[in-house]
Amino acid sequence: MQKPLIAGNWKMHTTVHEGAELVLKLREFIKSTDSIDVVLAPPFTSIQHISHLVADSGIELAGQNVFWKEDGAYTGEISAQMLRAIGCSYVIIGHSERRALFGDTDDRVNKKAHAAVKAGLKPIICVGETLEEKEAGRTLSKVKGQIMRALAGLKTGSLRELTIAYEPIWAIGTGQSATPETAEEVHNSIRELLYEDYDTSAAKKIRIIYGGSVKADNIDSLMAMPNIDGALVGGASLKAEDFARIVQFESA
Ligand code: PGA
Repeated sequence: MQKPLIAGNWKMHTTVHEGAELVLKLREFIKSTDSIDVVLAPPFTSIQHISHLVADSGIELAGQNVFWKEDGAYTGEISAQMLRAIGCSYVIIGHSERRALFGDTDDRVNKKAHAAVKAGLKPIICVGETLEEKEAGRTLSKVKGQIMRALAGLKTGSLRELTIAYEPIWAIGTGQSATPETAEEVHNSIRELLYEDYDTSAAKKIRIIYGGSVKADNIDSLMAMPNIDGALVGGASLKAEDFARIVQFESA
């Protein structure tokens, strides 16, 4: 089993100066990263600067998005190699905001996952259902479909470096987190799907993390669930004390 993974997705928040301040405070509050993988996903403009500030801290960096081509005439896009070169080891792919606002289809998510793996970045692939889909009882079919299409064609060996983030869209930024039991049920089904489709040792190593209104006061109960391997944190990752408390969750 891998270490738990707690990732902070800063979204389009913080200038380079604000980001630096946040990281310096975080370094004060986070005592140790020995038993946990801590990942920050700042805006692209801050990553390189922050990579110097987290050196020797155990904190790793992620891009919030990536384009699947290596280079070329793609104005405004950033490649996986470019992210690697400025110190990223992870990349978030298919966040629901990218899917809803910027046209990230399952096919694009799949291309981005391939590009990330090829460049040696560890993908964090986001999946999740809308409120309407949840109410229609379609959570599992939606999430399973997204995962199968995202992972299509990826070799078992590369899956070891993979994280799936289950982020119900109705829980993102709403303050209304899924209950630990509801999240666990979905995580468990995702785990079963991975066991069906991949060999056991590869499936075991894939982390399934939860995202959607994760806060200092609900992280302990979420992390007490056997199939919740970590969290993808939005709003609360912008407050150093809160994020540090989330990273230092109390295990049951
Ligand atoms: P939130 O965002 O923690 O603010 O709900 C989570 C996410 O979008 O990854």
